[in-house]
This record gives sequence, structure tokens and C-alpha cells, in this order.
Amino acid sequence: MRDSRKPKINKKPFWFSVLFLLKIYWSVYSLEDSQALTPPMGFSTWNEFGCSISESTIVSTGHLMLKKHPADWEGRELSLRDAGYVYVNIDDCWHAQSRDAQGNPQWDSAKFPRGLKWLADTLHQMELKIGIYSCAGTATCCNYFASFNPENPEVGYDPIDANAYADWGIDYLKDDWCNVPSDYQNANGSQKLYARMRDALKAATSKTGRPIVFSLCNWGQYSVYQWGDTIGHLWRTGGDITPEWNSIMSNITANSTGAQYAKPGAWNDPDMMEVGNGSLSLAENRAHFDLWCISAAPLILGNDLSKMSDSIFYILTNREVIAIDQDSLGYQGRKVRTDGDVQIWSKKLKNGAWAVVLVNTGTESTNSSVLWSDIGESDLTRSYPVRDVWQHRTVSESATDSYSVNSIPGHGTVHLVFGSAYWMEPVSIIKNKSLNSSPRGFEKISAKRINSTTTVYIPFTSSNVTIYNLQGKKSSTFFVKEPSWITIPESFAKRNFSIIQIIKSNGSKITLDINSINHSVPK
Ligand code: GAL
Repeated sequence: MRDSRKPKINKKPFWFSVLFLLKIYWSVYSLEDSQALTPPMGFSTWNEFGCSISESTIVSTGHLMLKKHPADWEGRELSLRDAGYVYVNIDDCWHAQSRDAQGNPQWDSAKFPRGLKWLADTLHQMELKIGIYSCAGTATCCNYFASFNPENPEVGYDPIDANAYADWGIDYLKDDWCNVPSDYQNANGSQKLYARMRDALKAATSKTGRPIVFSLCNWGQYSVYQWGDTIGHLWRTGGDITPEWNSIMSNITANSTGAQYAKPGAWNDPDMMEVGNGSLSLAENRAHFDLWCISAAPLILGNDLSKMSDSIFYILTNREVIAIDQDSLGYQGRKVRTDGDVQIWSKKLKNGAWAVVLVNTGTESTNSSVLWSDIGESDLTRSYPVRDVWQHRTVSESATDSYSVNSIPGHGTVHLVFGSAYWMEPVSIIKNKSLNSSPRGFEKISAKRINSTTTVYIPFTSSNVTIYNLQGKKSSTFFVKEPSWITIPESFAKRNFSIIQIIKSNGSKITLDINSINHSVPK
């Protein structure tokens, strides 16, 4: 007779080993450190300052990030930090000519007389964070010392550098890819060098308790998007950006290749922003920002904050658009359809709504539509409210099947949200303690539109009012002696972004988008 009793196999040890191996795998190969759960926001020196950097560049940038600007469309006087920008990152060229005799990294003491530790303390006191730059090769791109050590290639300078950065109080490291020996110019080599710095940072920061966000910069090589999440919090997806329309479009397009790999703590990085640089028009600047935000890209300012116009500040601190970038679902939006010159990009948001950017790659203004299939909606009878996040208002209470958009400016965008009142919740990144909760006098600025004529009520005495068009060109200037209505020239009052700037008699300024003004007549 066959023995029907099977020998008892104790499965527990097997499952314990699997779990144990998985734990080892995760602890070694996944960051899982709760850093950069939304795309990092801050500033970097490279795009505008290059190697001309110093202690005063960084300290004054820090102060400018705290500076309150003229009231926005809600009457709030915010700083860049209030809007979420916290990292002040020093890029290449902070270095001394060489390491010290023990191999420790040294800063250039002419540029940074009080040193980087002092600088880190100073920024931390301002409730900001500090970033630094290194390179996985033998020298940085500007030829300063870097972490590859040809005399000790298996270990490198990574541990010594990571300990120094942690000791100085650094919060963010960008690791570049110049001068990397040819043996490492492949996916394995790239992973090996970057994983080494990741582990060195982990060891160093476990002693200080101050985490360091790790930004990989191998320019999108070796399919970094496929493995970047196991090593860094963000990874560059292409070459260096320049302040030109074609460069912006080409970087954001390359950045979409691995869109499906983005998630909280792991972001594709199309490069630091050029908003406010070169001769980009206001429409191009706004389109650049829209495309970065719909792509859940890190928002790293690359402009000189001391020369920033109110219009550029207004773009960079549009919290409705920033909220789309920072959405906690961590979905990277992507191009879903091309309609002639218009590209339609869409991003799923955590509350079930969709952000949609229509970008006109042509130079003439044009029209297009958003189809329900663009946002993945198969129920054509479903209706969505539509909000325009530059006009800051609901443009349709209930659209069904599709939504038509007129006058998308050349090299410009229209940015919409389809779905339930996404913006009704205040964005959590705004730090309320520094806000003026009751906007001074703002509620009295009102607008009315009769047919195509827009008039704006200015409730102040002796004020100068200037209207700008989308390209930042001045249209008209008015002097308002008594509170009164002014008529906005028709071409400036149309859908997109006619900015009105009011300089009151006491010199204080208010800048806002005409379309965002509460369209009711004051009593
Ligand atoms: C490049 C990098 C730039 C900047 C520069 C500094 O490789 O892509 O963003 O960091 O090096 O030399």
C-alpha cells in the first residue's frame, strides 16, 4: 500500500529566505528613503552664472528667495520659498585647485571665504537648503577635482567626499559625467560609479541624520531612466538646455522616453529651467514652465533672481501650475496626441482629475480641441468641469465629449484641468505663516467684460497702471487720479495673459493677470 502521508515539508525557512533576500535587495538597490517624494524645487547657479560664483552669489540668491513680491491674483504677497523653491544649488567651479594632502575636497577660499559649512548654516537659518556638484569622472566638466581616483579605481574618492558633504551640511548632490574612463562608459559602469556614491552618501548621512538628495547627470545615457530610481532621486534625460525654444522642446521630448519610470522619489530631469533667460518671449517662458510642470520635472530655477521681472516671477509662482508638478501621485504627464502644430500633453492627478497642456509649436496663434480619448476617458457622455490655470477660473462648468480651445499663442500654451475642483484646496506647499491672509484692498479691484470690451476698476488714487501683452510688451499706461474704470485695449484683453501692473502712490506694486480678476462689479 502506498503511503498516502506526504512527508511534511516545513515551508517557513523557504519563505523566510525569500523575504530575507528581498530585504537585502531593497536595502541595497532601492533608495526607499522618503526623499524627494515630489519633484525637488530650487535654484542652481549653472545656467546663468556658470563659473562666476561666490559666497555672495549664494547668500544674495537665498535672500532673493525669501523676498516678498507684489500681490498675485489672490492678493497674496509671496516669496519663491513660499511657493516651494527651497534648494540653492552650487554647480561646477566651487572647488579649490586641488584636494588637500589627505585627499579631502577643498573649496575655493577666494570665492567662498567663510567656507561651505558656514554657507550651509546660513541657508539653513533662512529655512533653505544647499546643494553641491561633483562628477563621477577624474575631473569635473570645468576641470576641477572629482570622485574617480585612478590610483584607487575600485574605491574612488566617494567615501571621503560624501563624508565631507555630510559634515558641511549639504542637502543635495548633483553628480556629473565628464572625464569618466572608457571602461565605465556603459550601463554597468555608470551604475557602478553612481551606486558607489549612493552608498557613500547613505553611510555618511546615517551619521549626521541629514539626508542628501542624489541627482544623476549622465545626460540620459545608457537608458538611465530604467535604473535611475534604484540609485538616485532624479536623473538627467538629455544634454544641456539653452534658453531657446528648440532646446526646450527637444529636452522635454527626450525626457518623455522613460515617463513610465517616474514616481514619488524618482524623477526624470529634463534639466534646470531657463525661464527668464535669453530672449524667450513671455509665451515661451510660460510654455516652458507648463511643460516642466505637466512632466513632473524638478523645478530648478536657472535665472538671475536679482534681475527677475514681475512677469517672470508671476510665471514661476503660479501655484495652480506648481500644484500640477507637485501632485503626490507622481505621474509624469506625456504627449498624447499631435494636431497639426499643436501637441496635447496630459497628466493624471491624484484626485482623478487630468491636467492638459496644449502647446503650439508653430509661430502663429491657432485653435485645437481636447478629446476625451486624449485624457483616456472612454465614456463620451461624461462631462467634466474645465479650469484654466492661467486665467484662474472655471472656463466651462460642464464639457462633454471634447473641449475646444481658441487662440493658443505661437510658441505658447493653454493649460487646463479637467475634473473636480482641483484647485479649490489650497496648495499645501504654501507656508501659511508667511502669508498675508487678508489681501489688502485686492477684492476691490474688479473687472467687467461687455462683448469684447474689458474694463478694470482701480480702487486707488494717484496710481500708475501699465498693461503688458503676452510678449511682455507694454501696451498702455494710465495714470489713475481717483478710483476709476479703465478700458483695456481689445487686443490685450483676449484670453491669454494680459498683465496689469499697478504702482500705487506709496510705491507699492500689484501685478496680476486681467483674466484672473473677479469679474464682478463692486458695489
Ligand atoms: C554639464 C552639465 C551641466 C553643468 C555643467 C557644469 O555636464 O550637464 O548641467 O553642470 O556640466 O560644468
